[in-house]
Amino acid sequence: RFANPEVVFEGWYPIGTAHGFRRGKARRVPIGKRDIVVYRDFDGELHAVERACGHLGADLSLGKVVGSGLQCAFHRWCWNADGSCANGARIATYALRERWGVAWVWAGDSPAYDLPNPESENGAHVLRLPMQRIACHPHVVLGNGLDISHVVGVHRFHFDGEPRVETEPHRVSVQVRAHFHPTLMRYILGLAHKSANWTFTNIGPSLAWVKVDSPTPFELVWAARPLPDGSCATQTLFFLPRWRALTRAVPMMIATTWADRRVLSGLEFRPNFVASDAIFARYAKLVEGLPEWSSSC
Ligand code: FES
Ligand SMILES: [Fe+2]
Repeated sequence: RFANPEVVFEGWYPIGTAHGFRRGKARRVPIGKRDIVVYRDFDGELHAVERACGHLGADLSLGKVVGSGLQCAFHRWCWNADGSCANGARIATYALRERWGVAWVWAGDSPAYDLPNPESENGAHVLRLPMQRIACHPHVVLGNGLDISHVVGVHRFHFDGEPRVETEPHRVSVQVRAHFHPTLMRYILGLAHKSANWTFTNIGPSLAWVKVDSPTPFELVWAARPLPDGSCATQTLFFLPRWRALTRAVPMMIATTWADRRVLSGLEFRPNFVASDAIFARYAKLVEGLPEWSSSC
């Protein structure tokens, strides 16, 4: 079920910039092949409900925001923010967070864990990149940091010792000590031969959290939401102790993601893990052990 476009696992998914959800407006948001409806009420609260009305299944994104609920466009049943209706019927609702200017929805019943918490000193400055689409399943995109063998071939790092792996509930992380192979760009950025230490943590099916200690301390939260065509929408957030860190962190990460994007675009995943994929395979196992998102109310 890993990297299978037919399956969505429970987790936090980024659904767009928080300010993109306007008061009094409802919008359809795809998560994999299913849509949910997200609306902001007139008090400014964001809500998420299943797309099909609990009466005859009309598309609730066509509905009207009334008070803190949503009125279906078909027979005008009103669905409260908790999914209840005055006649006793119910629809599914989903937990939401608005953090770092991004709206996040928990696909599933109640959240099993929270969004990551970058160190307060790194959280001084948050840079949110626009969402991007990558023609690859999000599990493969996000598991990229645990795909240790490509770090040498694609990103041209040399390891200083074996990467250290840790597994916790909902998480797999790898701590890497390496140094930069010299390239022209790295000479320009002053990174050639420098040591690079980072911890890459995958959280659930949809989040990755990178803590870089050197050459420049910063953190990165990287998230992806599956789209109906099997591709994904990714959200990248930088957490920087000072804006000056941007001059190294951003070119370094842009070069990294550009190199990844080139090999990930159009990838059709095959689960043929071999011994050198052991850490990546551990992430696949973690994902496969997660509950699937069901449509039950
Ligand atoms: S289908 Fe929504 S009220 Fe009838
Ligand atoms: Fe990579």
